[in-house]
Amino acid sequence: MFKINDNYLKLPGSYLFSTIAQKVAAYTEAHSEADIIRLGIGDVTQPIAPAIIEAVHKAADEMGTPEGFHGYAPDLGYEFLRSKIAKEDFQARGCDISADEIFVSDGAKCDCGNIQEIFSLDNRIAVCDPVYPVYVDSNVMAGRGGVYDVATERFSDIIYMPCTAENNFAPELPAETPDLIYLCFPNNPTGSVLTKEQLQQWVDYANKVGAVILYDAAYEAYISEDNIPHSIYECEGARTCAIEFRSFSKNAGFTGMRLGFTVVPKDLKCGDVMLHTLWARRHGTKYNGAPYIIQKAGEAVYSPEGKAQLKKQVAYYMQNAHVIYDGLKSAGYTVSGGVNSPYIWMKTPDGMTSWEFFDYLLEHANVVGTPGSGFGPSGEGYFRLTAFGTYENTVKAVERMKQL
Ligand code: MLT
Repeated sequence: MFKINDNYLKLPGSYLFSTIAQKVAAYTEAHSEADIIRLGIGDVTQPIAPAIIEAVHKAADEMGTPEGFHGYAPDLGYEFLRSKIAKEDFQARGCDISADEIFVSDGAKCDCGNIQEIFSLDNRIAVCDPVYPVYVDSNVMAGRGGVYDVATERFSDIIYMPCTAENNFAPELPAETPDLIYLCFPNNPTGSVLTKEQLQQWVDYANKVGAVILYDAAYEAYISEDNIPHSIYECEGARTCAIEFRSFSKNAGFTGMRLGFTVVPKDLKCGDVMLHTLWARRHGTKYNGAPYIIQKAGEAVYSPEGKAQLKKQVAYYMQNAHVIYDGLKSAGYTVSGGVNSPYIWMKTPDGMTSWEFFDYLLEHANVVGTPGSGFGPSGEGYFRLTAFGTYENTVKAVERMKQL
């Protein structure tokens, strides 16, 4: 008789954004006239930039010719894209990262979820609380969670690092020593950032205790202030302790195109074993490479036209972020984030729980956001709004919220 992986049964409820989608679908069915504005999941709304679309067309045409046809992509990514990434995203910022340390994939979410496979099951993970649910859920599925405590909403074997208003939503070094540390900055969901000095502390700590930092930099394109690192490799010593995840979803609108990459420096070792070798082995075995057409689209992100067009797109979303931040603040809400990040983190009014406010907002303003408690217990009493909507809808949503 077969047996299931019963670690899956330890996960409370369904995936956060699936739950929200179900709730919104039920509401829409009951109120077909409602003009619902979705500022929940961080999905983009602006069309793909012209320079990228041009590259897609060109690559698609190539695929229809005998000379230009491409079958399976190299499992670690095409050289043309890997070398562009290494040069533009890292070397241009003074980071010592080479093309063969870049692993192209179909998105940062998969990589963030899969990376734990190359680590032993008895590693202890540390996560920020609140946190992007993929880090916790993927480790629980693998069996690293321990027992879920309904009262505290925490897993017994996971180290939680509360990120609260008191610490400016920046985690403190944990009292217990973890083996794997998940950090995401600019942060999802709180929109907070770490300065270079703060991130350097984490790198020094990881090197000291022999931990690996799994650094999710999916939102780096939204950094607007100086002294905020775009990559963990801007910190000294990161090559021996950090893996970095990047996405084309947020900086170039690829949520429906699927492209991302992970950086695993060759200096990152456990004894004599390079994590680079293990991740390459995993990629080779379980993945057949991102499609040629999409990798060509990714290459166009780095063209002069692509860069100029995407700069405007990021500015468009950041204008939305300001509309939300300023509008809610002037209406008396307590808000943070939104300066180096497309996420605005607000305190729910009148002591409402995060889910109470979700329902209230959906019903009275027809606006969808994300309940802070869905990201972890320290998110209770908070709510996340995304700047990825259209400008018109964002203005409308804020106006409705002001009138509540
Ligand atoms: C979010 O809303 O947190 C993100 O869109 C989720 C993701 O990028 O997978």
